[in-house]
Amino acid sequence: MSTEAATHAPADDPQLTPDGRLRHLLSLATLPRSLLEPLLERAERYLTPLGERPARDSALKGRTVANLFFEPSTRTRASFELAAHRMSADVLNLDVNMSSRTKGESVLDTILTLQAMEVDVFVVRDASAGIPAFIARNVAPHVSVLNAGEADVSHPTQALLDLLTIRRRKPPLPELRVAIVGDIAHSRVARSTAEVLHTFGVGELRLVGPPDLLPAEPLVPGAMLVDDLARGLRDADVVMALRIQRERFREMEGIPDPEQYARQYGITRERLRGAHPDAIVMHPGPMNRGVEIDGDVADGPQSAILEQVTNGVAVRMAVLATVTETLIASGSGR
Ligand code: NCD
Repeated sequence: MSTEAATHAPADDPQLTPDGRLRHLLSLATLPRSLLEPLLERAERYLTPLGERPARDSALKGRTVANLFFEPSTRTRASFELAAHRMSADVLNLDVNMSSRTKGESVLDTILTLQAMEVDVFVVRDASAGIPAFIARNVAPHVSVLNAGEADVSHPTQALLDLLTIRRRKPPLPELRVAIVGDIAHSRVARSTAEVLHTFGVGELRLVGPPDLLPAEPLVPGAMLVDDLARGLRDADVVMALRIQRERFREMEGIPDPEQYARQYGITRERLRGAHPDAIVMHPGPMNRGVEIDGDVADGPQSAILEQVTNGVAVRMAVLATVTETLIASGSGR
């Protein structure tokens, strides 16, 4: 892979304070390794062996986190909610179906209303591109915004948990071949994960899928677009399967037939034999078993799918702690 990854964030990056601290988490595309490394190390510290009591921290005591999911979510929402509780925050989960947005209230009115109730951190998922950045531009100086999934554009905390999972299980990243398989063109996970793997210098990144589901250009410099699954999987150390993002197709006719997709691109035990014998298998969820991944692979010995989920809570705790420290350091926190 090329080594052109960002080493410094642009001076005017809206995610950062003027002295370069992380205030909002909107996208990983411009964030340098030096800023992300401490975040991952902090997440590591929040990981406890499964079955032991989960880590807790009082870093967000007296603060309020609002989860605003204007798009369906199970694990990301639960993960942010648990992370906020474990950091001792007060947590507000807005039920979107009941919210005023369905009555025509603008996102900004919703945000300003909640800000007037002393919300400190907004966690936002939305189907429209640009919403997290728009909110970040409009909140008060003592408030942070975290992107929990933005259209097909970005999903930074998912990418960080993917990276953490790979780092904990595999040798150093520059030695690894990573294959992301599926609907790359419509996937915010593929985009953000590719960005962070590039920033951290992955050995080889293959974006694998049917020609119609591949983007026109590789998502990051040096990544390869591969439409042949066997070639994409060959000797791979990490195989990440992705769901077909049905909700993001403009024309229903463009959506691949699930059975045909499974026959050509589904990750089966048989096909996984083409990867490195110690390869790990990942999936951000929700999974369609029997389509992009077979049940016996998802539940098999190479699967790291539930570790991803566990790591996700730790990553979100680390992000919450980091932005809160920024607000305190810049004198705008309470
Ligand atoms: C992903 C998402 O919402 O982008 N899921 C998640 O956050 N764990 C992937 C998907 O929906 O396919």
